[in-house]
Amino acid sequence: LSDGPLKGLKALVTSGPTYEAIDPVRFIGNRSSGKQGHAIALALAAAGAEVTLVAGPTALADPTGCKTVRIESAAEMLAAVQKALPADIFVAAAAVADWRPAAEAAQKMKKRDGGEPPRIDLATNPDILATIAAPGPKRPRLVIGFAAETEKVVEYATAKRQKKNSDWILANDVSAETGTFGGSDNKVHLITADGAEEWPRLAKTDLAQRLVARIAATLKDKSK
Ligand code: C5P
Repeated sequence: LSDGPLKGLKALVTSGPTYEAIDPVRFIGNRSSGKQGHAIALALAAAGAEVTLVAGPTALADPTGCKTVRIESAAEMLAAVQKALPADIFVAAAAVADWRPAAEAAQKMKKRDGGEPPRIDLATNPDILATIAAPGPKRPRLVIGFAAETEKVVEYATAKRQKKNSDWILANDVSAETGTFGGSDNKVHLITADGAEEWPRLAKTDLAQRLVARIAATLKDKSK
């Protein structure tokens, strides 16, 4: 472990998409690359934190210096996160699927000549960020979520911060023309209890470092 400003602290990060099984070969997923979450995990470890990264399916290598737990579904992500608690810092960067097929077919679903396409009933996934941020003895000292919006970014993210009881929200505009999803850089507003702060467009790795510097400064302040 590095001898940085977060030495002695435990951090837990989610990253990447989740895959929700339809049958043994098919799933519902999304285009999250995991780049931002993995970069945050790496930066936290570089600052000396003991990091557990719970990662959905991504093409990325496990970041150096982190304990990486690979999962597929939202239910598995929640279970892995709960198992890794307690933590001082929780960063929910994963693009968790909002819904899953209500029942996973045990066998590959078959096409029938001239038959109707199957219907897939959906069930709502647990909200991992809201679950971990809820008040209680295991609540991390600093809980940070993301809000990917395509309009009214600060307004929606401010509401999301309160609704999910997250300390901070990093709000980003993911309209197609911004190239944020899957891209290498990101443009966010940091939403805290004090308001919204606009950050410049940064490489996801640089954004991660800036976030970690802010985390270190805040926890140092809090522990005074
Ligand atoms: O509600 P929405 O999906 O926009 O919220 C985004 C934030 O909540 C992200 O930090 C994401 O990681 C987290 N989230 C979660 N579990 C869900 C849905 C979102 O942890 N089921």
